[in-house]
Amino acid sequence: MSCQVPYKCASTPAVRVLGIESSCDETAAAVVDDGPRLVSNIVHSQVRTHAAFGGVVPEVASREHIARIVGIIEEAAAPVGGLDGIDALAVTRGPGLVGSLLVGLQVAKGLALARGLPWIGVNHLEGHLSAALLADTPPTYPHVALVVSGGHTHLYHVRAFGDYALLGGTRDDAAGEAFDKVAKILGLGYPGGVRIEKTGQGGNPAAVRLPRALPGKNLDFSFSGLKTAAHLHIIGKGGGLEGEELRDFCASVQEAIADVLTKKAVNAALAVGAPGVALAGGVAANTRVRALLAQRCAKRGLWCFAPPKPLCTDNAAMIAAAGWTRLQAGERSPWGASAQSRWPLGQGFEAVP
Ligand code: KG4
Ligand code: ZN
Repeated sequence: MSCQVPYKCASTPAVRVLGIESSCDETAAAVVDDGPRLVSNIVHSQVRTHAAFGGVVPEVASREHIARIVGIIEEAAAPVGGLDGIDALAVTRGPGLVGSLLVGLQVAKGLALARGLPWIGVNHLEGHLSAALLADTPPTYPHVALVVSGGHTHLYHVRAFGDYALLGGTRDDAAGEAFDKVAKILGLGYPGGVRIEKTGQGGNPAAVRLPRALPGKNLDFSFSGLKTAAHLHIIGKGGGLEGEELRDFCASVQEAIADVLTKKAVNAALAVGAPGVALAGGVAANTRVRALLAQRCAKRGLWCFAPPKPLCTDNAAMIAAAGWTRLQAGERSPWGASAQSRWPLGQGFEAVP
């Protein structure tokens, strides 16, 4: 019988996976080689398009994905000789904006069908965690992972690849959302995280007292109080901040978020006896969050891992890495697998129809 699963056949060469990501406002494609080892990583950010609206407009995002995705895939596949050099496809299937997800998903399915290639639908959160797999020395298991992005703030006990136990999560806003909303109130524009970080550079992080919700051993997060306190502070200052006051305020907001995230991540690792913490997601690109986590982990004898900044924000390299790992294990997605706006990490296709 001929080999139906190319990478399970000893005679077949290394498997190259094309990853596709279109869950929100980045149109991205990437190729990983056996390993997984990063070959190419192309990201088109729609930030400029959405900046005019102060946030992502789902309908507009879908349309821009459609306009861009073929060119982005061609660019990503060019270093391996185009699509002929691809053995399998991995695509974000959820969670995310359904209209956006469908663009990447249908393109991936179309390519898989036309070329007779295997494909796998990837959970975007597992994708964020899988950026770590592309490191020269990836984090070992078990560990605690803090996934912190525009839509998610979750702590997991990661016992192995694919084996996640939720330890805590946000009860309201995600940390990235808190950055984005405060930036919007300040008139700093979108996306907020990086703008608050830049504006706050050199500012006094202790200048404005802001709440740290759910202190102590609680591993859940809440950022709505911080958002309200920030709003009230800005109103109290007449609706706008400038110069040094603005710088100090941004530094204080960043510090409040970084403080809570890193304290809880360390507490989580200590609670489950994990030896280290891996950081993932867009907010992991924040320099203060990275530094404070490294400092606090070192103090408690824990290791700490953060992917390179470009692999923290949405990209397809992380999707290809996650897909590569699952494909290697023999997993495939059924043709009927569709986009999922919600898809809790750790739930398989069976659990989410
Ligand atoms: O992972 P990501 O690119 O998309 C989602 O899956 O949500 O995360 C985007 C979030 C946004 O809220 C953005 O403001 C935040 O990550 N972010 C940052 C930084 N860069 C991106 N937050 C703080 N500091 C940054 N440097
Ligand atoms: Zn993301």
